Parts: sequence; C-alpha cells; structure tokens
Amino acid sequence: MLGSFLTIFLIMEIGGKCLVCHSEIRRDFKECIHAKEGIGCASCHGGDEKTLNEKRAHGSKFIGVPKRKEIPKFCSRCHSDPSLMKPYGLPIDQYALYLTSGHGRRFSRGDTTVAVCTDCHPAHQILKKNDPRSTVNKRNIVSTCEKCHADSELMEKYGIDPSIPEKYRKGVHGKALIEDGNLRSPDCSNCHGSHGAAPSGYGDINKVCGLCHPGEREFFLKGNHKVVLDRAGLPECISCHNSHLIVSMTPQEGISTMCRKCHEEGTSPIKFAMKLLTLFQAADDAIKEAENAIEEAKRLDVDVEDFNYRLEKSKLYLTEAIPVLHTFELELVETELRKARSEAEDIVAEVHQHKVQRRGRIFVLIAIWFYILLTISITYRFRRKRKEGEARQD
Ligand code: HEC
Ligand code: HEC
Ligand code: HEC
Ligand code: HEC
Ligand code: HEC
Ligand code: HEC
Ligand code: HEC
Ligand code: HEC
Ligand code: HEC
Repeated sequence: MLGSFLTIFLIMEIGGKCLVCHSEIRRDFKECIHAKEGIGCASCHGGDEKTLNEKRAHGSKFIGVPKRKEIPKFCSRCHSDPSLMKPYGLPIDQYALYLTSGHGRRFSRGDTTVAVCTDCHPAHQILKKNDPRSTVNKRNIVSTCEKCHADSELMEKYGIDPSIPEKYRKGVHGKALIEDGNLRSPDCSNCHGSHGAAPSGYGDINKVCGLCHPGEREFFLKGNHKVVLDRAGLPECISCHNSHLIVSMTPQEGISTMCRKCHEEGTSPIKFAMKLLTLFQAADDAIKEAENAIEEAKRLDVDVEDFNYRLEKSKLYLTEAIPVLHTFELELVETELRKARSEAEDIVAEVHQHKVQRRGRIFVLIAIWFYILLTISITYRFRRKRKEGEARQD
C-alpha cells in the first residue's frame, strides 16, 4: 500500500525515479526553475524516468553527463529556440552573445577552462535572477565571477590580474553594492555584459560608464581630452579613474594625483591642472567660510534658514562643476565655480553685516546705559550736596 503511494508520488514528482538513486540532487532540483516548468532529468540526460532498473533507466537515448565542450550548445537547444522561449518573454541571444565574449571566443578555439553556461548557472540549481539565492542575482554575481577570477593559478595562465575582484570590492562601486546594498552600483556584468563582450574596445568605455554617469560622459565627449586619449590609444574614463579600484575623492585630490600619471611637471597640461586646482580650492574655501559664518550667525541668534538654503545651492554648483571639468575647458569650469563662490561669499558678507549692525546696537545700548548711570550719579551727588547744605544750615 505505502509502496504504491510512494510509486505514484515518485512518478508525479518531476525527476521521477531517477531521484531515488540520485537523491543528492533532489533538494536543489526541487527548486530549480526547470523542474518547476516540467523539464525533468530525461529532457536533458535522456533515459527512462519511470523505472528503478538502472540499466533501463540509463537506457534509451541516455547521454550521461554532457561534456564541457558541448554545454553551450546543449543549453541553447532550448534557449535559442524562439517558440520555446517566447512564452516566457526570455531573450534567445545568450549563445550568440556568448560566442562574441572573451570566454566564448577562447571556447571556440577549444579551451574549455573558460566559463560555460553551467559555471554561472549551476545545472540543477537554476533560479530566476531576481531570487536572492540565484548565482546571477545582482548581489551574488561578484562571487560567481570570483570563483575563477580570484583563482591566481588559473588567471596567471592567461596573464589576467587575479586581484580584479578584490580591487572591485575595495573600490567605490563594490563598496556601494556589497556594503551599502546600493543596487544602482555596477556589478561585473553591468560593465562586461552577462553573456557578450563589453566593452568591446577602449573607445567604447565612455559608453559603458556613461550608462550611469551621463553628465560626465556628455561633457567628456564635448572636450578635447577624449580626442587626445583616443589618438594616443589610451583608454577613456579609466585612464584617470581605473576600471576596478575606483576611488572616491575630492576634485583637488583627483587633479593633483591623476594628471601627473601622464603629464610631466612644468608642461602646459600641468599648468592647466594647477589653474583648475586653484579654482576648485577657492570655491571650497569660500564654502568653508560660509559654513563658519553661519555658525557665528547662529550664536548671534540670527535666523539662518535662508543662509542654509543658499549654502546648499552653493555646494550644488560646486558638484555641478565636476562633470563640467570633463570638458577640460577652463572658462566653462570657472563659470560654474564662480556661481558657487559668489553664493558663498554673499552669505559671509551678510553675516558680517549682521555683526556690524549688532555691534552698532550694542554701542547705542552702552551709550544709553552710560547716560542713565551718569544721570543717576549726578542726581545722587546733587541730592547729597543739598542734604549736606541743609545739615550745615541746621
Ligand atoms: C537504480 C538507480 C538509478 C536510477 C533509477 C538512475 N540512476 Fe543514474 N546512476 C546510478 C548510478 C549508481 C550511477 C553511477 C554509475 C557510475 O558512476 O558509473 C549513475 C550515474 C548517472 C549519471 C552520470 C553518468 C556518468 O557518465 O558519469 C547520470 C547523468 C545519471 N546517472 C542520470 C540518471 C537519470 C537522468 C536517471 C533517470 C532517467 C537516472 N540516472 C536513473 C543509478 C541510477
Ligand atoms: C537543464 C538540463 C538538466 C536537467 C533538467 C538535469 N540535468 Fe543533470 N546535468 C546537466 C548538466 C549540464 C550536467 C553537467 C554538470 C555541469 O556541467 O555542471 C549534469 C550533470 C549530472 C550528473 C553528474 C554529476 C553532477 O552532479 O555533476 C548527474 C548524476 C545528473 N546530472 C543527474 C541528473 C538527474 C537525476 C536529474 C533530474 C533530477 C538531472 N540531472 C536533471 C543538466 C541537467
Ligand atoms: C528542454 C529545454 C531547456 C533546456 C535543455 C535548458 N533550459 Fe533553461 N529554461 C527552459 C525553460 C522552459 C525555462 C523557464 C523559463 C521561465 O520560467 O522563466 C528555462 C529557464 C532558465 C533560466 C532562468 C531564466 C530566468 O527567468 O531567470 C536559466 C538561467 C536557464 N534556463 C539556463 C539554462 C542552462 C544553463 C541550461 C543548460 C544546462 C538550460 N537552461 C537548459 C528550458 C530549457
Ligand atoms: C560568465 C557567466 C555567465 C555565463 C557563462 C552564462 N551566463 Fe546566463 N546569465 C549570467 C548572468 C550574470 C545573468 C543575469 C543578468 C542579466 O543578464 O540580467 C544571466 C542570465 C541568463 C538568462 C536569463 C535572461 C534574462 O534576460 O532573464 C538565461 C536564460 C541565461 N542566462 C542562459 C544562459 C545560457 C544558455 C548560457 C550559455 C550559452 C549562459 N547563460 C551563460 C551569466 C552567465
Ligand atoms: C569557470 C571560470 C570562469 C568564470 C566563472 C568566469 N570567468 Fe571570466 N574568464 C575565465 C578565463 C579562464 C578567462 C581567460 C580567457 C582569455 O584570456 O581569453 C576569462 C576572461 C574574462 C574576461 C576577459 C576577456 C577578454 O576579452 O579578454 C572578462 C572581462 C571576464 N572573464 C569576465 C567575467 C565575468 C564578468 C564573470 C562573471 C559574470 C566571469 N568572467 C566568470 C574564466 C571564468
Ligand atoms: C565599472 C565597470 C567595471 C566593473 C564593475 C568591472 N569591470 Fe572589469 N574591466 C572594466 C574595463 C573598462 C576593463 C578594460 C580595461 C582594463 O583592462 O582595465 C576591464 C577589464 C577586465 C578584465 C580583463 C583584464 C585583462 O587583463 O585583460 C577582466 C578579467 C575583468 N575586467 C573582470 C571583472 C570582474 C570579475 C569584475 C567584477 C568583480 C569586473 N571586471 C568589474 C570595467 C569594469
Ligand atoms: C550601473 C551603473 C554604473 C556604471 C556602469 C558605472 N558606475 Fe560609477 N557609480 C555608480 C554609482 C551608483 C556610484 C555611487 C556609489 C556611491 O558612492 O554610493 C558610482 C560612483 C562612481 C565614482 C565616484 C563618485 C564619487 O562619489 O566620488 C566614480 C569616479 C565612478 N563611479 C566612475 C565610473 C567609471 C569610470 C565607470 C566606467 C568604467 C563607471 N563609474 C560605471 C554607478 C555606475
Ligand atoms: C583626464 C582625466 C579624466 C578622465 C579621462 C575622466 N575623468 Fe572623471 N574625473 C576626473 C577628475 C579629476 C574628477 C574629480 C575627482 C573625483 O571626483 O574623483 C573626476 C570625477 C568624476 C566623477 C565623480 C563625480 C562626482 O560627483 O564626484 C565621475 C562619476 C566621473 N569622473 C566619471 C567619468 C567618466 C564616466 C569618464 C569617461 C566618460 C571620465 N570620468 C573621464 C578626471 C577624469
Ligand atoms: C592617461 C594619460 C593622461 C592622463 C591621466 C591625463 N592626460 Fe592630459 N593628455 C594626455 C595626452 C596623451 C595628451 C596629448 C599629448 C600632450 O599634450 O601631452 C594630453 C593633453 C592634455 C592637454 C592639452 C589638450 C590639447 O588641447 O591639446 C591638457 C590641457 C590636458 N591634457 C590636461 C590634463 C589634465 C588636467 C589631467 C588631469 C585631470 C590630464 N590631462 C590627465 C594624456 C593624459
């Protein structure tokens, strides 16, 4: 009785009787998206799911374990088939893209150490990408790539830096995504693509970064430094910022370190950089002074709401000057920074005026008190003299 129940259950369960003998797969496979869609063991491996006889189970059209060199085609049998994928709204381009990627190109030349589909999507444990446990969920992609890309023995064979994942984790993007959970920050696949090759060349880097930093890109494309970098065969954006270890810094820190990577002391680009630095420093100083002035105004009991609003505006002008910096045109940067400075300087001037007015008021107050005290003292003396005079008369 129990036996036949179990049999019915096992036949109904996706994976059928294969899972009796291959029970180590059951837990993962139960949650796998393929199982949920009714794709059982036999759909991929062949064989007969309805028997517990090993020979028969591994009998008809049984292919065993697909070989590594067959996997991309093996998965694409369904995933490149529009009639199968359309109902799910899934794209059918993974295989075509894969062949264009660094992985795929090397794979086509017969090297199977590179990533194939099942390195990123474990064959029996494929979850939808929005499932937090999925290997290709935004939060887990770095760990998925890291399995190979942090393996120094493997990477050295290909002359690739094995510390890329570590650099990424230490950089501004890695910290934002992994430590702060900022999902707008890029994981490896935002810049490299999940399946295809990206960026395809150094001249394309501005497009990849520009997906999320459109302001910097727009101004960079307007300026001349893009032209000189392209002409010198140097990569855009990352020549100054790095590709993985991107550090967050102030404009002054950036200008004083980045430009010297390529320009010699005393050359006109360095002189230009120093002018740029002075402009940013002046705006920064003006903002600091305005902050101090506002603190002082608070002590004088002046209403600072309007000052605070204008201070924020001034800081905004300063941040807006950073994308403009990417034109490498002094006048444009200066115009933006002048707005920041004049807003801040106005605050300082107005607080100063309050101080002067207050000093004036204190002076008048002292004068009034002086006058009152003087009057009291004169009246007092006059009265005493009169009393003394009256006493003498008595
Ligand atoms: C009666 C138990 C039993 C059943 C039922 C069974 N298998 Fe197996 N299977 C085994 C054993 C034992 C091995 C290990 C054989 C070996 O290492 O040579 C194996 C090996 C495999 C392998 C690895 C083959 C290789 O080349 O290394 C695959 C794939 C596999 N089974 C798939 C299936 C599928 C799919 C089903 C259902 C259609 C299934 N098995 C049903 C017992 C079973
Ligand atoms: C979507 C296709 C697919 C389905 C469905 C599938 N497998 Fe596999 N299986 C593979 C691939 C591909 C491999 C090769 C392993 C790899 O590359 O990681 C594999 C490997 C195996 C192996 C070799 C050992 C291992 O774990 O690597 C066994 C055994 C196995 N599968 C059994 C099963 C059983 C039993 C089922 C049903 C419960 C099943 N598979 C369902 C694709 C599939
Ligand atoms: C028999 C056809 C078939 C085969 C073979 C197959 N798949 Fe699938 N795959 C599907 C179907 C159908 C879905 C379900 C789509 C859904 O529900 O969104 C799916 C879903 C997926 C998803 C999840 C997509 C999402 O929505 O996030 C991934 C990833 C995936 N398959 C990878 C693979 C890999 C890797 C292989 C090879 C080991 C493979 N598939 C083999 C049919 C297949
Ligand atoms: C280097 C790792 C890697 C390899 C190799 C890889 N994928 Fe993916 N795949 C991903 C990542 C990351 C995502 C999820 C990110 C995205 O594109 O939205 C994904 C998503 C998918 C999806 C869901 C697509 C969607 O739009 O929802 C399918 C289906 C898929 N892959 C199939 C495959 C197939 C088939 C292969 C082999 C030809 C393959 N993948 C090879 C990393 C990989
Ligand atoms: C199974 C191991 C493995 C996994 C997993 C893997 N890679 Fe790779 N990857 C390699 C190997 C090996 C190379 C070297 C190939 C070459 O030099 O052509 C490589 C090369 C690359 C390259 C350079 C390609 C080129 O055009 O020069 C990029 C970029 C890359 N991988 C990104 C990724 C990303 C992103 C992920 C995760 C989504 C990932 N890899 C996951 C093994 C892997
Ligand atoms: C913000 C975009 C960005 C992110 C995020 C990013 N990369 Fe890159 N990566 C690049 C650019 C641009 C290059 C090409 C320039 C270079 O070689 O530095 C590159 C180069 C590479 C290379 C090739 C190095 C070589 O020597 O040929 C590999 C491998 C690589 N990245 C892996 C990864 C991995 C793994 C991650 C995630 C941990 C990652 N990248 C995250 C932009 C990015
Ligand atoms: C998927 C979107 C995305 C892509 C692609 C991207 N970034 Fe970012 N980037 C961000 C986000 C979000 C932050 C803010 C992180 C934080 O500080 O919280 C950021 C921060 C930065 C910062 C630091 C800003 C600061 O606060 O000082 C720099 C510099 C930077 N990115 C440069 C680049 C470069 C260069 C590339 C291309 C190689 C690139 N980014 C690609 C989203 C992206
Ligand atoms: C010649 C050097 C150079 C190049 C090339 C360059 N930048 Fe910058 N970038 C800077 C300097 C200097 C700063 C100010 C310091 C900082 O914030 O890191 C900066 C700042 C940034 C910031 C931070 C903005 C903020 O609000 O803090 C982002 C984002 C950025 N750049 C993106 C890019 C992108 C995208 C490209 C390519 C289209 C690019 N940069 C090309 C020098 C450069
Ligand atoms: C990756 C190398 C590299 C970095 C970093 C770099 N430059 Fe340049 N720059 C060049 C090259 C190459 C040229 C063209 C040859 C030359 O004039 O030296 C150039 C030219 C210039 C010029 C002259 C442009 C023209 O119109 O001819 C200026 C100005 C300049 N750079 C400013 C800067 C400043 C400011 C920084 C730092 C924020 C910087 N550069 C960082 C490579 C670089």
